[in-house]
Parts: sequence; C-alpha cells; structure tokens
Amino acid sequence: MSVILVTGGAGYIGSHTCLALLRGGHEVVVVDDYSNASPLALTRVEALAGRRFRAVIEADVRNRDALRKVFSEYAVTAVIHFAAKKAVGESVRMPLAYYDNNLGGLFSLLEVMGEFGVKRIVFSSSATVYGDPVTVPITESFPTQATNPYGRTKLMSEEILTDLAAADPGWKVVLLRYFNPVGADESGQIGEDPSGIPNNLMPYVSQVAVGKLGELQVFGNDYPTRDGTGVRDYIHVVDLARGHVSAVERFDSLPSLSAINLGTGRGYSVLEVVLAFEKASGCPVPFRIVPRRDGDVAECWADPALAEQVLGWRAERGLDTMCEDAWRWQQGNPDGYRQA
Ligand code: NAD
Ligand code: WQD
Repeated sequence: MSVILVTGGAGYIGSHTCLALLRGGHEVVVVDDYSNASPLALTRVEALAGRRFRAVIEADVRNRDALRKVFSEYAVTAVIHFAAKKAVGESVRMPLAYYDNNLGGLFSLLEVMGEFGVKRIVFSSSATVYGDPVTVPITESFPTQATNPYGRTKLMSEEILTDLAAADPGWKVVLLRYFNPVGADESGQIGEDPSGIPNNLMPYVSQVAVGKLGELQVFGNDYPTRDGTGVRDYIHVVDLARGHVSAVERFDSLPSLSAINLGTGRGYSVLEVVLAFEKASGCPVPFRIVPRRDGDVAECWADPALAEQVLGWRAERGLDTMCEDAWRWQQGNPDGYRQA
C-alpha cells in the first residue's frame, strides 16, 4: 500500500491537505516539529476523517536520521513538503533562520528520499516567486524574481528541484505556486492559527471582526487598482488541499518537472475582502488607510488554466464561502488551538 509522507502536516495548509488525503483513502504519515502548529490539529483531522494517520512523528525535517527512520519504517511512495517558515517580515529580520530551515530542510529531505529511492515530491511554492509581475493574470512562464529572504528560499528551492529533475529524470517534481490561501474547513474544527498578531489580511480581518483587534490598517489606497487598494487572488484552503490530492494522484502522467499555479483566476481588493467579511460575519470591520507596506505589489492574480489542464483541478469556492468558513473557525476557536 502506498504511503504519502506529509512534512509540516500539522500546519494550516498541511492539516487541510491531510484531511483531503485521508478522505481520499490515502495512507498518510506526518512529520512536523510543531514549531508553528499544534498536535491538536491532527487529532481533529483524524476525527473529521473518521480514519487514523499511519503515523505522526514529531521531528525536524533537517534531522536526517529521524527522516531515515521514517523511510525505513513506512513504504513512502511520495512526499508533500509543506514544512517551512513563512513570515515575510520575520525573514527580513532573521534571514539565516529562513535559509537554514527552508533550504536545510529541503536538502535533508531530498537526500534521504534519494537514499530510499523515493523520487516523487510536491513542493509548496508561492506566487511570491513572481515578485512584482509586469501584468496580470500571471502564467507559469512569467519571469521569477524574489523580493525578500522568504521569497528567495522559495525561488532557490524551485531552482534546486529543477536541477535535480534535470539531472535525473527519474524524479517527479511538482512545484505548486499558491496564491493567497484563506478560509478553513467548513466544520470550523481546523483553520489558520497565527501566533501573535497576524501578518496576513484575512486572519487580521477576522480578529477585528471578533473584537480581538481594534481596527484593520489598510496598507495603501493609492495603487493603480479599481479602488486603490491591493488586489490578490484569495484561494480557499480546501480547494488548495484538493489540488495536492490531484497532484499526488497524477504523478504517473506528469513530466519530471511541473510548475503549476493554484489560484482562482480572480482578484479581490482589500476593501472587497473587508465588505465580504462583514457580510459573512454580520460584524463591522473598522479600518483605517495607512501608507503602503514595503514590498507589496498592486495586483497579483493567477491564470489557473494549466492546473485545470494537467491536474484536472479548478477552484470551486468563492470569496463569500472563504469568509464564512474563516469566520466559523474564528468564532469557534477564538484562541486557535491554544484554548483546547
Ligand atoms: P504553517 O506554518 O501553518 O505550516 C508549516 C508547518 O511546518 C507547521 O506545522 C510547522 O510546525 C512545520 N515546520 C516548519 N519547519 C519545520 C521543520 N524544520 N521540520 C518539521 N516541521 C516544520 O504554514 P502554511 O501556511 O500551512 O504553509 C505551508 C507551506 O506553504 C509553507 O512551505 C509555506 O511557505 C507555503 N506557502 C504558504 C502560503 C500561505 O500564505 N499560507 C502561501 C504560499 C506558500
Ligand atoms: C494581502 C493584501 C496587503 C494585511 C503574503 C506573502 C506571500 C504568500 C501569501 C507565502 C495586500 C493588504 C494585509 C493588513 C492590509 N505567502 N493588507 N492590511 O502580501 O499578498 O502575500 O502571503 O508564500 O509570499 O507575501 O498577503 O495577506 O499579507 O496581504 O491592507 O493588515 O492585504 O497590503 O494588498 P500578500 P497578505
């Protein structure tokens, strides 16, 4: 029986993907060091799926011996590699921690995969690799560029994986470039659980709506967009999770390297997100316009045609559902996984 190893499986996107994999009948082993997650997420995933993980191992992916133990004990056939640090601002302050964790983790994982002859990997990349796009929508052939250390770890990881696939076509590498993942499982049992004050828009808005934060700061209303605020391609995390299941189920038909956008193909402004969230929650989201945030781009949204063509995948959930599901999670878990 084939087994999928999910690194960072207790995290936000990882937990939703694990649920989709378990529901799809896959055997799943999780490795997570819980540096940015709670084991409770995995307990809840098992309860929602009505199935158990094959194994859940607390380990750092940079620990080669721990990985070797996993590959010797379980017949892993493919890996989905989520484990990474992801806060852009923190990466500017602590670049070495980001290079060490994100690149060191990838190296040790690829090395051990090679030792065990496991050559199928889905890698969590990001629309951040497009930097400031010359136009929108963004196709996979756009030039890549990084504007901060976090983005550089994603770009360098893509380059390392590209070199590996070129050197040995026995590898199957799928680079999934996520746009802006938001929302939560419709059960409200699992969701995004940022530590401290959220950096990203949707968790910030939902904490304003619930009354934990006073007001949203809107970073700039002088962009060349329809209302002057930044436009992004928000994608429901459950759709994103489905995209990973499609990728692992289609390895056989994929070339040795694919880079695929996972987005909806539709952009929403900050103010449109605020309005949609107010509608979904029935709560006001007070905001104030402040200067632009360094490094932000005006517009970033995907051309998702390739994902449909090669993965048979397209996003199904719209902004209202994203907000409703984020709100259900927020209301039921005002302190994330910490309260339980
Ligand atoms: P997350 O922080 O919720 O999940 C990452 C998980 O990896 C956490 O459970 C964390 O404990 C674990 N982890 C981190 N370093 C580890 C290590 N060295 N060893 C073992 N486990 C480790 O983040 P997420 O939002 O679920 O993101 C998952 C992946 O998707 C990341 O690679 C991220 O860079 C990428 N990504 C995220 C977004 C986003 O906006 N959320 C967008 C594009 C790409
Ligand atoms: C969205 C919009 C902000 C917060 C980041 C990473 C990217 C990827 C996804 C990992 C922008 C505005 C935000 C706030 C605001 N992550 N905003 N007030 O910056 O598009 O992408 O997450 O790979 O790499 O850079 O997402 O949610 O931070 O911002 O006005 O308090 O909301 O200016 O227009 P971003 P975001």
